Amino acid sequence: MNSIETIFKNNEAWIQEKLAIDKQYFEKLASGQNPEVLYIGCSDSRVTAEELMGLNPGEAFVHRNIANLVNNVDLNVMSVLNYAVRYLKVKHIIVCGHYNCGGVKAAMEPKDLGILNPWLRNIRDVYRFHKEELNAIEDEHLRYNRLVELNVQEQCVNLIKTAAVQEAYHDRGITVHGWVFDIHSGRLINLNIDFPKILAEITEIYKLYP
Ligand code: CO
Repeated sequence: MNSIETIFKNNEAWIQEKLAIDKQYFEKLASGQNPEVLYIGCSDSRVTAEELMGLNPGEAFVHRNIANLVNNVDLNVMSVLNYAVRYLKVKHIIVCGHYNCGGVKAAMEPKDLGILNPWLRNIRDVYRFHKEELNAIEDEHLRYNRLVELNVQEQCVNLIKTAAVQEAYHDRGITVHGWVFDIHSGRLINLNIDFPKILAEITEIYKLYP
């Protein structure tokens, strides 16, 4: 367990480590950001963002919440998305879920979790959209894993519904990626979501540009 004191010690060591490689490291960092990726992941303490991707400060714009949801009335995620896409002009948006996700697990249980209910209901809706496929999976653990994957897929769809992403796709071919972090192996799994296919299927309903 890290104490607060340890954190400040670690920070000092990290500063020295960076300066040893490049004396201008922090001056360069302060001069601005130009990240190519927006990463949307779970708040789970085991699923870091930069560390598991091997990225450095300045390389990823990051948003994390419980169960990596892209909810269209969540001002927080929508602000992050709009800033990253319209101003920073990221080239890739990643939605990264993870197996053993407590948020997804909670959404599979009949339990009143108070303020978490409306948040987790987004995942119950994912279950409803894919009820046939999920209910056909007998093994509960495999069904849980599949819901993690389908949740990522639906959050990618939610991204595609937004004006910012539609505009950036039209103007410069931004891409959306759905990944799952396998907590048992440390591996990032690309779900290979067919972005153009999903776009073609939902365009009729969600298109915001003529
Ligand atoms: Co999680």
